Formats: sequence, C-alpha cells, structure tokens
Amino acid sequence: MRHLLSIDDLTTETIVALLQQAARFREGTTCGTRFLLEGKTLALLFQEPSTRTILSFQKAMRNLGGDVMRLDMRASSACKGESLDDTLMTVACYADAIVLRQPAVLIPGNGPVSLNVPLINAGDGAGEHPTQALTDLFTLMDRKQRVEGLTVVFLGDTKRSRTVHSLVRLLGRFPNNRCLLRHDFQDHEWDEDTILRTADAVYLTRQQQERGETEPTSPLRFDRSMLKKLGKETLVMHPLPRNHEMDPEIDDDPRCVHFDQVKNGVHVRMAVLAHIMATNFEQ
Ligand code: NCD
Repeated sequence: MRHLLSIDDLTTETIVALLQQAARFREGTTCGTRFLLEGKTLALLFQEPSTRTILSFQKAMRNLGGDVMRLDMRASSACKGESLDDTLMTVACYADAIVLRQPAVLIPGNGPVSLNVPLINAGDGAGEHPTQALTDLFTLMDRKQRVEGLTVVFLGDTKRSRTVHSLVRLLGRFPNNRCLLRHDFQDHEWDEDTILRTADAVYLTRQQQERGETEPTSPLRFDRSMLKKLGKETLVMHPLPRNHEMDPEIDDDPRCVHFDQVKNGVHVRMAVLAHIMATNFEQ
C-alpha cells in the first residue's frame, strides 16, 4: 500500500516528479485532469485543528473531480473509545484514500496492518508533515529556480515542529543543501548577521505549546528590524499559523512568501493525490 507517512516514504525520483507535476497543475497545462479522480473519495480525518491543510486537500481533490468526506474526530466513535485503527479500517470501507492528522507519531511506511487504502499523514504530533514540506520545497524552487545548494535557517520551536522535521529530511535529499536549526534566535555562539545575510531562506515556526512545556528561551519576534538583517534575496517562510514570532507588518515585503506557501499547497496536494490515487496517471 502506498502510504505517505514520512518524506522517507518517497523516492527522490518521485519527489522530483511531484514537484514538476505541481508546477504543471499550477500553470494549468495538464489536459483531462479535471476528471482524473472522478468516482474516487478522499476521507479527511482531523483530530487536531487545521485551516490550510484541510482546505487545500479538499480543494485539491475537488480540482481533480473527486469527492471529499470529512469525519469530525471530536464527534466520532473515537469519543466512545474506538481505536484509531478501527476508525481507519471503517473509513477505508467508504473511501479510496485517507488523510489523517492526529497527536501521536506514526511510523514511516507503517499504516495499520490491514489497511487497504493509502494513508496520507497531514501531521502526526511532533513527527512529520510531508505534504507541507513538499509545498515548502516547491515554493523555494519557484523562487530560487533550484532545489539544491540552498541554505535554510530554521527559527522557532524547531525541535517540536513537524513541518521543520519533514523539510529538513526533504532538503537532505538534494546535494549541497544546508539546514541551520536554532531554537533560540539570540544564540550567542552563532554569527547571526552573516548567516541571515547569506541564507537563501529563513523558515519561522511558532511555539508548539500544545506539545507541552516550552523551553525557557528568549522569545522570537521577526519584524521589520529583523528584515533589515536579511540579504536582498533571502526569503522568509512560515507554514502558518503564526503567533508572535512573525509580525504581520512585514507581510508586504516581497521576500515574505508565507501566503505563496498557502496557495502552492493546493497544487502540490493535487500532485500527491494524483500520484497516490489515480490509476494510469503518468507524471
Ligand atoms: C503546521 C502544522 O500543523 O504542523 N501548519 C500547517 O499544517 N501548515 C504548523 C503549526 O501548527 O505550527
């Protein structure tokens, strides 16, 4: 079964094909894809809050002619003590693929033993979020015209951010990419100015307060004064939602691409769904 629980479930060849396909979907240069997933149903099971991921999966599926069904996990039989595996096995009786977001970390390559439909991880606790990372890399590729030789600085709660975990894995697939992770922006051992000036992108994340106590670090605040430290071509990325770490006053700077990430999520998820669900679809 073709589950997508981690970036490790994708070959580098498939990753490249997904990025190229997402670009074609965005340009609208793919004929006949309006009905590609006609007759297929995607189930969305979200046990944690979501705005962008759930809406972009819905839109991606509908753009390909497929149907979407959503189970509110907070009002499902999970509340009566049903196990996640039983819920997935049940949903698999009605759907052709399942998108799951839940608080526990999943094991790469391992859906529930006898699940006979593909399972797509839309965020597993502090584990991974592979479709967000593909969206982030697509956005980087779009602006930098390459997926290799990139330096990306990760700021914020990098330890517990699943989008960071997946993107670091994904960047590691391509030559000469450098990922610099810092939990605390005021780390004195770090030559902050040089790194910010020369990085291809700064990737911000919020404190994952729902995952327990935060570390006692000085709070990150990326505002206009921080923007001044960046190189002219250094992008500012954020998977959103943001809290205090990114000041909305910087949104109009052309280097800030967080809403591009939001938009690109649809095309990337179209490519993922086509890859996983379509029969006879050549990328
Ligand atoms: C992220 C997530 O849910 O992991 N959001 C997203 O899907 N774009 C980021 C976060 O919650 O901090």
